[in-house]
Amino acid sequence: MVTTKSLLSVFSLGLLGTAQAYSRGECQYPTQNPLQGCPQGTLLVGAGQKFTSIQSAVLSIPNNTVPYYILILPGNYTEQVNVTRPGPLTLLAQTKYPNDNTKNSVNVIWHNATGTASTGSYDNAYTSTLTIAPTFNSSLTGSGPTGNQVPAGTPFGNTDFRAYNLNFINDYLPYSAGPSLALSVSYANAGFYYCGFYSYQDTVYVGKLGNAYMYNSTVAGQTDFLYGFGTLWIQSSLLSLRSCGGGITAWKGTNTTFVNHYGVYIHDSFVRAANSSLNIVGKCALGRPWNALHRSIFANTYLDDSIEPSGYIKWSATDPRVNGNTTMAEYKDYGPGWNATGRAAGNVTIVMTDAEYAPYSTLEKVFQEPFTGKFGNTKWIDRKPVVHGN
Ligand SMILES: *[C@@H]1O[C@H](CO)[C@@H](O)[C@H](O)[C@H]1NC(C)=O
Ligand SMILES: *[C@@H]1O[C@H](CO)[C@@H](O)[C@H](O)[C@H]1NC(C)=O
Ligand SMILES: *[C@@H]1O[C@H](CO)[C@@H](O)[C@H](O)[C@H]1NC(C)=O
Ligand SMILES: *[C@@H]1O[C@H](CO)[C@@H](O)[C@H](O)[C@H]1NC(C)=O
Ligand SMILES: *[C@@H]1O[C@H](CO)[C@@H](O)[C@H](O)[C@H]1NC(C)=O
Ligand SMILES: *[C@@H]1O[C@H](CO)[C@@H](O)[C@H](O)[C@H]1NC(C)=O
Ligand SMILES: *[C@@H]1O[C@H](CO)[C@@H](O)[C@H](O)[C@H]1NC(C)=O
Ligand SMILES: *[C@@H]1O[C@H](CO)[C@@H](O)[C@H](O)[C@H]1NC(C)=O
Ligand SMILES: *[C@@H]1O[C@H](CO)[C@@H](O)[C@H](O)[C@H]1NC(C)=O
Ligand SMILES: *[C@@H]1O[C@H](CO)[C@@H](O)[C@H](O)[C@H]1NC(C)=O
Ligand SMILES: *[C@@H]1O[C@H](CO)[C@@H](O)[C@H](O)[C@H]1NC(C)=O
Repeated sequence: MVTTKSLLSVFSLGLLGTAQAYSRGECQYPTQNPLQGCPQGTLLVGAGQKFTSIQSAVLSIPNNTVPYYILILPGNYTEQVNVTRPGPLTLLAQTKYPNDNTKNSVNVIWHNATGTASTGSYDNAYTSTLTIAPTFNSSLTGSGPTGNQVPAGTPFGNTDFRAYNLNFINDYLPYSAGPSLALSVSYANAGFYYCGFYSYQDTVYVGKLGNAYMYNSTVAGQTDFLYGFGTLWIQSSLLSLRSCGGGITAWKGTNTTFVNHYGVYIHDSFVRAANSSLNIVGKCALGRPWNALHRSIFANTYLDDSIEPSGYIKWSATDPRVNGNTTMAEYKDYGPGWNATGRAAGNVTIVMTDAEYAPYSTLEKVFQEPFTGKFGNTKWIDRKPVVHGN
């Protein structure tokens, strides 16, 4: 139990611009003064508090580059949260279990989908539970081969967003019924630790100039539930299959992102059916190409028997969207869903050699600075997220 300082401290710039250390575990641990152990100036959200919604706390923060922290008490928050500010922002959920997303007790819940007869049609951006983007226009998915053209001159948004132990849920319907986003990240850097993302279709969107990192988190979905144009690295996490549809990944490149290492990279993770009542053995695809510049790699990842023998699939028989630029790849996957014969027969999955995998093997090699494309944009990633001492 932590009531004293845990071994690991996180250093950050405080409100007065002076370095201050805080212990994540101590700040998140429930104590009589909930803010005990939190950085000076941390905002508190909860029933009966000054801020009863996360968005009201976010909106109270100035649009500047000073780091801010928000501690959220247990509860279900039915709201959309939009973060536009450029300065660092950390959302911390109160918990006794800072290293276990299955015990999270803060749920941010929204309920929307697009593209069906009952909901009508509007951009996917409207549906998301959490959006991190500097402007509404930069968060739009758009349509066509390059998607929404973000207006020239749009500044980069949040440079260092972090969330710990929060679940983001879009529960429009308990099956695929049109895009229903739990997370949307564009023109921003965002890290998620011990978080959960739950919906059925298009659950996680990482859009233009979006960089996102997930650690020890759960993403639960059914259809194309990791999609976008940006860069997403999923580390030591669980991809939970709530049924099959499309593929797990549906990525798109554009003529402006072609030179970048955009794509979705899943490392040291687990892909499993959500429960044993689902009848999906051999039916779920690792991914399919939203366009021919799709890039995704499942590396060192356990696949249960839900995965199709071919691994990835084409978009459709009449519109395959596969050419020499398409990277639908695996590297050292294992488990019953890894079928070498099936992969070869399907002729669509690239089983990478060490040399083919090398350009995508580290965070420094995939995350790039906005606009310049310089590699090594990783300062916003928490490399030591584990809380010790409790
Ligand atoms: C916030 O500040 C940035 C500059 O740091 C500016 O580009 C942006 O327009 C501001 N946003 C709002 C809503 O004022
Ligand atoms: C949140 O809602 C879920 C069901 O929707 C419920 O099981 C849980 O108890 C609620 N949590 C709180 C803290 O109210
Ligand atoms: C979803 O959001 C759109 C756009 O804001 C709105 O028109 C629609 O009514 C919402 N749908 C639901 C089911 O809330
Ligand atoms: C968040 O953004 C969505 C999409 O732009 C918008 O529909 C919603 O009204 C915004 N919510 C808040 C609280 O700003
Ligand atoms: C946002 O994009 C729409 C087109 O999707 C455009 O009409 C509008 O002018 C843009 N707004 C801004 C502020 O750039
Ligand atoms: C969480 O991280 C730990 C340490 O890296 C790892 O042992 C565990 O398997 C991870 N959980 C998941 C779901 O990957
Ligand atoms: C199994 O998971 C599916 C998809 O989330 C859900 O609809 C179903 O209720 C679950 N069944 C059981 C028995 O938990
Ligand atoms: C990318 O393609 C779009 C339309 O398909 C075009 O308007 C734009 O100029 C192109 N950009 C580059 C950098 O080639
Ligand atoms: C790969 O994409 C580039 C840029 O869009 C294009 O010029 C080239 O023809 C593509 N290569 C193949 C093999 O399709
Ligand atoms: C592996 O793939 C081959 C070729 O598609 C197929 O015949 C075989 O049944 C698959 N094995 C399993 C265990 O799914
Ligand atoms: C495999 O697919 C490539 C195109 O991606 C094609 O050129 C080749 O002929 C295919 N091989 C077989 C055996 O079907």
